[in-house]
Amino acid sequence: MENLAKYIQENKQRFLDELFELLRIPSISADPAYSKEMIRTAEYIKTQLEAAGADNVEICETGGYPIVYGEKIIDPSLPTILVYGHYDVQPAVPLELWTTPPFEPTIRNERIYARGACDDKGQMYMHVKAFEAMMKNNSLPCNVKFMIEGEEEVGSSNLGPFCINNKEKLKADVVLISDTSMIANDIPSIDVGLRGLSYVEVEVTGPNRDLHSGVYGGAVANPINILAKMIASMHDENNRITIPGFYDDVVELSADERNEMAKAPFDLEEYKKDLGIDDVWGEKGYSTIERTGIRPTLDVNGIWGGYTGEGSKTVLPSKAYAKISMRLVPNQSSEKITKLFTEYFTSIAPPSVKVVVKPHHGGEPVVTPTDSLEFKAASMAMEKTFGKKPIPTRGGGSIPIVALFEKVLGVKTVLMGFGLDIDALHSPNESYGIFNYFKGIETIPYFYKYYAELKK
Ligand code: BES
Ligand code: MN
Ligand code: MN
Repeated sequence: MENLAKYIQENKQRFLDELFELLRIPSISADPAYSKEMIRTAEYIKTQLEAAGADNVEICETGGYPIVYGEKIIDPSLPTILVYGHYDVQPAVPLELWTTPPFEPTIRNERIYARGACDDKGQMYMHVKAFEAMMKNNSLPCNVKFMIEGEEEVGSSNLGPFCINNKEKLKADVVLISDTSMIANDIPSIDVGLRGLSYVEVEVTGPNRDLHSGVYGGAVANPINILAKMIASMHDENNRITIPGFYDDVVELSADERNEMAKAPFDLEEYKKDLGIDDVWGEKGYSTIERTGIRPTLDVNGIWGGYTGEGSKTVLPSKAYAKISMRLVPNQSSEKITKLFTEYFTSIAPPSVKVVVKPHHGGEPVVTPTDSLEFKAASMAMEKTFGKKPIPTRGGGSIPIVALFEKVLGVKTVLMGFGLDIDALHSPNESYGIFNYFKGIETIPYFYKYYAELKK
């Protein structure tokens, strides 16, 4: 392991330069205007995996953006780690809020600023470099397979079928993912939960055309007024979601489990200060950590309609729209929740408007065990490099494919992420600490080592 540390140290600048090259390609999966860049990104990853020493590297076509696959099988009798990551990023708008352009990576205060710096190019690329270091030092202790996709940020809809059709190729003992966050650089943690997701778009239609808001206002339903009221009614005075049956399948934690969760360090004042808010908000009876970790939510992601241009236009719009996401926890099912939402949303609409609910992507919640061999290996690896045992935490975000890995491939996942809340994922000025990038590269080989040893 000393040789490895030396190798990483000696190649530090190149490891950064290569990541920068990856960050310069705007691989925005949500916007078809970037489809060429998506292919360029996949090709770059293929080249880098080959250079690192992977065999059979290929760009696998799907119905959407391709998946990059590569492997190193040193001995079929040894365990196999399947590394998953994503090369697509979220849109970078609003661009004017970035201090430096999102696809021109820049270092400030020991941090790399760029869209995807943490989520997930930076975290994914740590795995390529850790693999290279193990290969170049003849210390790869087990087999490895890489599967890097380009559609995570848009719901991974083609990855499920890819897994179903490639069960043999993807056969592994464990899935290893770095796409989550830790509590702090001096408080390492491992996510043992991800929330599921139901995502819908709603359309509310009033009159058959935009109307003069003076001539018709007051006599014809305004779809924006109605939509705002419908959305507002979906939370009650305790900030609980009012959709009938919404909480039916939610697993309530025991008092012991909640006490255990409450032991994780959390500074509410710091949290509020970081976000520039005077108070937090959420479901009555639950702490902030519980509200994001173990409770389901409903949020409007965007709402539009009518006139939003310069100055004013007196108009009673014909249509109003919103994009709404619901984060789910065990044992809620995204299909069922989408159905409950649709029924309820339709039922609360007054006869003066028509509504259409269009379901987008979904994903199921997951909780990973803390008494498993793979959790132990990850815990030991982080303890080794951070000098502290990591705390198990429940993350609020979603990685929809993780539930499917277990269902389709029968493999458990370890979420060994190295990000921080301050990395501003999906926000302007996303960044990733240089410390975290190299800490990840240093820690990953220990996971391989301990996992291979524990599997013996
Ligand atoms: N890496 C995130 C998920 C994440 C971030 C989990 C931090 C835990 C902590 C992932 O790229 C992501 O953003 N997922 C989307 C899923 C969606 C677009 C289907 C999400 O959570 O919104
Ligand atoms: Mn991610
Ligand atoms: Mn993301």
